Amino acid sequence: MPDVKVERILEDPELYIIRVDDDRIKYFEATWDIPEGITYNAYLMKLDGATVLFDLSKREYTELFMEALKKLVDPEEITHVVIHHTEPDHTGALPAFLEANGYRAKLIGTSFAKRFLEGFYGEKVVENFHAIKDGEEMRIGGKTFRFITVPWLHWPDTMITYVVEDKLIFSCDAGGGYGIPKTIDDSDEEVVREYLPHVTKYIVTVIGHYHKYIVQNIKKLKAMGIVDEAQMILPGHGLIWKKNPARIFEHYERVGAGVPTEGKILVLYDSMYGFVESRMEIVLDELKRLGKKPVVYRFTDKEAPAVSDILGEVPDSEAIIIGASTFEADVHPRVRYALLEILDKANYEKPVLIVGAFGWGGVAGKKIETLISRSKFDHVDTVESRGMPRPEDKERLREGVMKLLSWL
Ligand code: FEO
Repeated sequence: MPDVKVERILEDPELYIIRVDDDRIKYFEATWDIPEGITYNAYLMKLDGATVLFDLSKREYTELFMEALKKLVDPEEITHVVIHHTEPDHTGALPAFLEANGYRAKLIGTSFAKRFLEGFYGEKVVENFHAIKDGEEMRIGGKTFRFITVPWLHWPDTMITYVVEDKLIFSCDAGGGYGIPKTIDDSDEEVVREYLPHVTKYIVTVIGHYHKYIVQNIKKLKAMGIVDEAQMILPGHGLIWKKNPARIFEHYERVGAGVPTEGKILVLYDSMYGFVESRMEIVLDELKRLGKKPVVYRFTDKEAPAVSDILGEVPDSEAIIIGASTFEADVHPRVRYALLEILDKANYEKPVLIVGAFGWGGVAGKKIETLISRSKFDHVDTVESRGMPRPEDKERLREGVMKLLSWL
């Protein structure tokens, strides 16, 4: 069974994390390969005359979650439950919690959240629900709770809570990442360095479709001054940020905006019988000769990388090179799927070079061009030819790389 970490985070106010470390999951949202696992973080704050629960856990871990919660408090004593976001990785345990609580607690969330909870779990769970307005403040247990909507981080229902007196941001999905970090917080730099690529992968796969809202919402929080003054950012997944709270939102901003790492070129291709690969060897030689650092993902008869890992490489790449075989008058199926997900989840203004190989008719190049023409990516060139590359094809490939790099 997953490990459940229950730790005290603050003495005053009395604040705890209940972190379910899900090392059994394989495909988040039944789609994204995450061998690194994920955590579901809930928080409990005990105040004068009030006990507040921030988010819950996934339904399949209800029993584990409730056991951990009962170590901290009698569920009947919980007076408020803040629902930042209704996706069931944070609310699956809600019906069982409310049963144990005797439906005493007031639920707080957006009006979208109320509607979604009713749809997921029935009318009874929202009988005592307070729908907040953006920026609304409530006094609970002697503290000021400010609720700020951050739509599309990750759903339209999403909000964060700012505890004004203690400068705490409870941010649910925003600020979260995949992975099961060894520590609870960002105090160990090695843990943070290992964790941040999982954050990027999480952002792209989960929130990537809405990535412009990442930039917009963080801008909104920054304008309020709460990002710079925050003492702690407490997300619904992964590490708590207390050594350098602003760092996680800065990372989110960079990924949302697609800020490139100098020299990084993402190279993605299939090669069934080596024809595309022989072209890519020339492309990679040329990139290295020109001082670039290609990051390569290839589909062959021995390798099939996870599309979720490929997606995580897009935001900080300077450019992309896609190599594809023509396969049954279309793009090779694995490259086609990877490309469709890139266009949906990681749609950035970055230049693209297409490299193709075919047996009797070149179709893949044109099909990829058409797909890219409907996206933010810029099509720079297509170099596609039959069978093994001839000297003139090799020359065209080198020209294509030069042309791509001239866009940077
Ligand atoms: Fe972690 Fe969108 O739920």
